[in-house]
Amino acid sequence: MPLLIKNGNIVTAETRYRADIYIEDETITRIEEKLSAPPGTEVIDAAGKLVFPGFIDPHVHIYLPFMATFAKDTHETASIAALVGGTTTFIEMCCPSRQDDALEGYQLWKQKAEGNSACDYAFHMSVTKFDDKTTSQLRQIVADGTASFKIFLSYKNFFGIDDGEMYQTLKLAEKLGVITTAHCENAELVSQLQQELLVAGKIGPEWHEPSRPETVEAEGTNRFATFLEHTGATGYVVHLSCAPALKAAVDAKLRGVKLSVESVLPHFLLDKTYAERAGVEGMKHVMSPPLRDKRNLSALWSALRAGLIDTVGTDHCPFDTTQKLLGKDAFTQIPNGIPGIEERVNLMYTYGVKRGSLDLHRFVDALSTRAAKLFGLFPRKGAIAVGSDADLVIYDPDYRGTISASTQHVNNDYSGFEGFAIEGRPAAVTVRGKVQVRDGAFVGEKGRGKFLRREPQYGAAHAS
Ligand code: URP
Ligand code: ZN
Ligand code: ZN
Repeated sequence: MPLLIKNGNIVTAETRYRADIYIEDETITRIEEKLSAPPGTEVIDAAGKLVFPGFIDPHVHIYLPFMATFAKDTHETASIAALVGGTTTFIEMCCPSRQDDALEGYQLWKQKAEGNSACDYAFHMSVTKFDDKTTSQLRQIVADGTASFKIFLSYKNFFGIDDGEMYQTLKLAEKLGVITTAHCENAELVSQLQQELLVAGKIGPEWHEPSRPETVEAEGTNRFATFLEHTGATGYVVHLSCAPALKAAVDAKLRGVKLSVESVLPHFLLDKTYAERAGVEGMKHVMSPPLRDKRNLSALWSALRAGLIDTVGTDHCPFDTTQKLLGKDAFTQIPNGIPGIEERVNLMYTYGVKRGSLDLHRFVDALSTRAAKLFGLFPRKGAIAVGSDADLVIYDPDYRGTISASTQHVNNDYSGFEGFAIEGRPAAVTVRGKVQVRDGAFVGEKGRGKFLRREPQYGAAHAS
């Protein structure tokens, strides 16, 4: 059935204007003032609402075997949570471990998502070792439409790769024209510091941050940038958390390294005092890189405002309280991760746009359009334009509410943002022209989401 969205205030990364949007066959076909609806058209009156392009979360974990357990969401629960919060596309980290076969891992992640996601999705393919099969396997994966890699300079012996493997991965990425995303720390330093702290009897969650200090993240960021420089590859730092790492990234950008930067929701709103809370309350706020000293938050907001931080993701990674308690005798055993897929848009709108820390267009850019451009989804996603997929968020800026685990759709028994006020939420969300959410409730089709094939777009072979 065609859909007409009337009287809305359209807001994109560049412009704001009043117009109606007409959608046929999953696609935006007309954007004009005062469109009338042919018989049989579903009409949404968006008067008083903002109409945004569907938001894109470029960094989530859904299926994830990690730290002796599995992240809690399924593709059904995570995608419904995403949609209720205004996210219409996510890019999931496909993370087979170093012991697994990469191609088998890729097929497994695809099977987990297929037919189960209510919104569209893509993958970043993690390269967790580089052996004699890796080149041909990664070529097949890129040919299948997964045109971005992920590497971990952390998690020694599990996801982590060494510098030689990073070099080989980046050389191949450059040749194939794909972007490589990186978790930037120093696996060896983290491992040594963790052991020293445990030996000294420092076992609680408050020691997680000192085991992976800001300097360690800055070193990893600088090393990744240096390897990009020497391979000519294009890179993207994930979940950047602190001012020294930001400086390393910005220095690299200034000397011409092809590098983009993501930070994630927890690092804009939470500081390390959350992880210093006693017992499981602290454990709930353990993620890597860790929540940092408060002084970093204003540096991240300034960099986001200025576009030096390109995107805001979540690093959504839910573990429940029972799982977090696996680390009750040693902080190194606390499953790392904080969920956020449902809260990202409303919290960044409230504490960014509403508080005057973030321009409305930069908000749309950082939470949607920039990720679409960087990861080969634009203008199909991240845009409100004729020909784009009709993924739209009709946003109510007058809504008032409070984040609570008791009302969330994420499959977890807590929210990392419990009690945060929100000033705005989606009134309706569409995925390729079908209304999937109304006023905080999922009303749509559960398996509607499609795997998004993406083409390589970087390097000499793809220069326009
Ligand atoms: O703590 C985190 N970030 N958990 C998920 C794995 C990762 O490093 O992204
Ligand atoms: Zn990471
Ligand atoms: Zn992650």
